[in-house]
Amino acid sequence: MKNNKICELLGIKYPIFQGAMAWISGGELAGAVSRDGGLGIIAGGGMEPSLLRENIRKAKAITSNPIGVNLMLLRPDVADQLDVCIEEGVKVVTTGAGNPGPFMEKLKNAGIKVIPVIPTIKLAERMEKIGADAVIVEGMESGGHVGSITTMALLPQIVNAVKIPVVAAGGIASGKQFLAALSMGAEAVQCGTIFLTAKECLIHQNYKNAILKAKDRSTVTTGNFTGHPVRVIDNKLAKEMLELEKNGASKEEIENLGKGSLKLAAVDGDAENGSVMAGQIAAMVNEERTTKEILEFLMMDLKLEVEVLKRRLENWNI
Ligand SMILES: Cc1cc2nc3c(=O)[nH]c(=O)nc-3n(C[C@H](O)[C@H](O)[C@H](O)COP(=O)(O)O)c2cc1C
Repeated sequence: MKNNKICELLGIKYPIFQGAMAWISGGELAGAVSRDGGLGIIAGGGMEPSLLRENIRKAKAITSNPIGVNLMLLRPDVADQLDVCIEEGVKVVTTGAGNPGPFMEKLKNAGIKVIPVIPTIKLAERMEKIGADAVIVEGMESGGHVGSITTMALLPQIVNAVKIPVVAAGGIASGKQFLAALSMGAEAVQCGTIFLTAKECLIHQNYKNAILKAKDRSTVTTGNFTGHPVRVIDNKLAKEMLELEKNGASKEEIENLGKGSLKLAAVDGDAENGSVMAGQIAAMVNEERTTKEILEFLMMDLKLEVEVLKRRLENWNI
């Protein structure tokens, strides 16, 4: 898209990222999203370097458009993952769970754009200072690991605090929400939950069904007392975790119950005992579509909502 800072920075058609989703966004999904004009992001969080390479190659076999990789910086082998990204010609790296500072020079020298995911103003400012190309502001509506501030409250504050482009994540699954993010100053959006039911998303059908039948109050956050809250569909596992938390269980007990649970849901299809991570907008995800249909829907719906808003404001005569 012309004159959009993120599209120009990354060489993509639509200002829409498919957010990394551990155990979920592999080469097939990310490749399809990038092929269809968004930025597909492979989740490096659950991948050994060799598996990451395999997934990057899968995505590259689908498209020659830019592909992103998400690196979770606390992984002990993150330096090896980074080498794989450089060797495979990855164009964009988003980062989480740690400070990308020590890797910045290497990433920059390889011509990779660095876009950290951040949940606070302080971190956004720090990332700008160390040379991040943009930041992804993620509100607590989103699926997976969450901060404590909503997209609506956090996004405009971060837009005011930094000069680099800001990407909004958390709670975006329609033109209305896309427009709201742009009007708060975001240059692009990152969506996770809406892509969970994409035809190219190779998770178990039981996981998809849990998203398709979700209602407005279907998600909860677990792990609140461990300092690492996670937004998930309220199922048997979530109830057990919340019960443990209520009864003052230790951090270890709670974390042990959660170990391997995302894979259990996403790969093995146990949507009751597994962790079905999803955002609050799961309730708005009601069909299985191709990545092309999802991206075109978001862009068309955005245009429609701009017109609707224009007409409403004209009527109000402001
Ligand atoms: C199942 C799931 C797994 C996720 N895993 C990761 C991850 O590994 N790394 C990351 O940076 N973000 C992760 N996220 C966050 C997404 O990349 C994205 O920012 C978020 O889903 C956007 O909010 P939404 O769910 O409301 O669309 C995950 C989200 C979901 C739903």
